[in-house]
Amino acid sequence: MLHSRNPANLGEVVAELELADAATFLRACQAARDGQPAWAALPPPVRGRVIQQVGRLVEANKEALATLVTRETGKPWRESLGEVQEVIDTCTFFLGEGRRLYGQTVPSEMPDKQLFTFRRPVGVAAVVTAANFPAAVPSWYLVPALLCGNTVVWKPSEQAGAVAQALAELLWHGGVPASALHLVQADGQATLDGLELALEAGQVDKLGFTGSTAVGRRLGELTGRHLQSPCLELGGKNPLVVAPDADLGLAVEGALFSGFGTAGQRCTSLGTAIVHHSVYDDFLDRFDRAVSSAAVGDPFQDVLYGPLLGEPYLERFEGFLGMVDGHHKLHGSTGVGRITAANPRQGLVGDAQAGLYVHPTVVSGVTAGDDLYRIETFGPIVGVAAYGSLDEAVALANGHGYGLSAAIYTRDPRTAFQFTERCRAGMVSVNNSTSGAEAHLPFGGNGLSGNGSRQSGIWVLEQFTTWQAMNWDYSGKLQKAQMDVVEPASDFDFRLDAR
Ligand code: UN1
Repeated sequence: MLHSRNPANLGEVVAELELADAATFLRACQAARDGQPAWAALPPPVRGRVIQQVGRLVEANKEALATLVTRETGKPWRESLGEVQEVIDTCTFFLGEGRRLYGQTVPSEMPDKQLFTFRRPVGVAAVVTAANFPAAVPSWYLVPALLCGNTVVWKPSEQAGAVAQALAELLWHGGVPASALHLVQADGQATLDGLELALEAGQVDKLGFTGSTAVGRRLGELTGRHLQSPCLELGGKNPLVVAPDADLGLAVEGALFSGFGTAGQRCTSLGTAIVHHSVYDDFLDRFDRAVSSAAVGDPFQDVLYGPLLGEPYLERFEGFLGMVDGHHKLHGSTGVGRITAANPRQGLVGDAQAGLYVHPTVVSGVTAGDDLYRIETFGPIVGVAAYGSLDEAVALANGHGYGLSAAIYTRDPRTAFQFTERCRAGMVSVNNSTSGAEAHLPFGGNGLSGNGSRQSGIWVLEQFTTWQAMNWDYSGKLQKAQMDVVEPASDFDFRLDAR
């Protein structure tokens, strides 16, 4: 039995989870397989209507679900409301897709023959998600997968089991049949083993995974052996470039939100601010002051961020702090690491002892050779590096190998477009932070951040449907493509008289 605890109040158990084993995961995939034809037989506009009902039900339960998100993950209340809104937005987008889900009519090269394309569901989708966005990110998979006629086995993070149960109930009560959506609470190893069994048994057709690059790599290998291409949404080391002509106040605000919102535990969180040397000292000074005076603490109060997601995240964060080197300087708080009575943070909101609170940390003097530059740090720590030319800024923005999100602050359209074109990130913001993607733009990354798959909007349809081509010959005879095609006459000896 696993206890999911409130990270702001460790004494409070939010959920008791009975974890499933690999065989249970396999059985869920088999049940999803059995349920798929009936779900796919429902006309897409009717499936869209189900998604509409789910969206309405989530809206009617917005505060209750957001409360659970804050209690179970420590996400500040306003952010949790935003997260639930992202679920609603996703439903709003896809309810209409039920009436589109377009295919094409295509002309044939022969008479009395018509060509068509249809989007078909892939089949059974296994979806494995993380704790940092326990409702919004799952909805990015579940909603389009179901709308397209797939059935789903969803394995949420053990850190967010209560939110997962609540979201699944909203989907079921909204009209998604229990045979179309299967929730399996399991740990990572049982999931990996169960997925392997299910792939071998031919019971999974698509994997959607949001999580670390290391796990994504293993899942990519596993699904690749079964000739599948998964939808992978992995880590980031997201750069925020501050050009010499930037509005520094705006850049600091963006860095504060993307560096420390969700306690730096978004895959879109700011990794390194890359600041032109002409404004470096000014930016650093303002950033230091903003971070030092930010409210940290009880996520139900008005704070920039609350506790880390759970004990393992704290342990890992303390490991990341070990990457701070002799040539770095620390800013942003009265201490480093866990906030305790002996290591206090001035102005902490709430009881330090009760939760997993850590100091915000700004590390200046970061260079391309540093581990802190290269390695994703899932927590409230931001590096600051200096650059001279745009070439250097681009090299620093790309050099770590991740490519999820990037931002640039500049007033010059030339700088904005040149940077965007040369940056490998899947998402680039100009004069806005690295976090905060809207629910209907393609979301995803390149390099260490993913395999090029995209979620959200029309783009995710490529993940959950496969194209079927149909050709229909009503000529009454066998017309052979390429061979029985009329050859139009032409006179290739013709030349213009240039005199
Ligand atoms: C994530 O961290 O996995 O753009 C998703 C953002 C959010 C989603 C983040 N809308 O920061």
